Amino acid sequence: MYQNPNHRLLNQTCIVTGASSGIGKHVALAMGRDCANVVVNYISDPVTAEEVAHEIEVSDDIAKAMTFKADVSKEDQVQAMFKAAVERFGTVDILVANAGLQRDAPLHEMTLAQWQTVIDVNLTGQFLCAREALREFIRRGKRPDVSCALGKIIHMSSVHEVIPWAGHANYAASKGAIVMLMQSIAQEYAPIGVRANSIAPGAIQTPINRDAWATPEALEHLLKLIPYNRIGQPSDIGAAAVWLATDESDYINGTTLFVDGAMTCYPGFSTNG
Ligand code: BGC
Repeated sequence: MYQNPNHRLLNQTCIVTGASSGIGKHVALAMGRDCANVVVNYISDPVTAEEVAHEIEVSDDIAKAMTFKADVSKEDQVQAMFKAAVERFGTVDILVANAGLQRDAPLHEMTLAQWQTVIDVNLTGQFLCAREALREFIRRGKRPDVSCALGKIIHMSSVHEVIPWAGHANYAASKGAIVMLMQSIAQEYAPIGVRANSIAPGAIQTPINRDAWATPEALEHLLKLIPYNRIGQPSDIGAAAVWLATDESDYINGTTLFVDGAMTCYPGFSTNG
């Protein structure tokens, strides 16, 4: 049976929101490979969430996994998820606030519902999960045998925390706000040992952006925005998330790690300007 010899997250528990598909799924799998216990949060697809949990348990005989259905934008459901995680695994050491969605529209046609849904899930959801994580870190206290930090919060942001995005203003606004949420948490809770950071993925091949890579023409168009000339894979984000959760990155606090193949390096200026 394959086991990661590093065991970097042994005896730690990680909640990954939106973990039944896409980036969240691969973050959950990667956490499990490094021996973390994983709570696989999902909202609509219990079957795929169970498959992720099963894959974690069969690929590593130490890591344990459970699934939990919760809408991250609902306070009571987030609280129930943390309670269930603590009951099953004793505590929570790592939160990956990943659940997110898009409801795209030109701004003059955007409905309040499209705006609100994106803000509720992408921003309020990350607030609610981070708040419960902080409460659990404080309740539990430091465990120097497992980590230097009191706890780790990883916000899933986007290159659109810095790249404006026409036709997606609700999404870009939600991700722009994540910067200040994350940095304010770091400033407020680093003194007691919390690490809060973000990952800003570029174009990662997942269902959320299928239109951007599903045809050769779309992919060719997309690659013009990616100097490294390949679309990202969810496993690229999984590897970054695990590293941000380990003590290898212990001095990294209050920052955003861009995992984007240089998408944020203004590729349009490579032959111009
Ligand atoms: C969005 C994707 C998009 C990528 C790069 C992500 O945050 O969810 O739809 O392809 O940013 O633009």
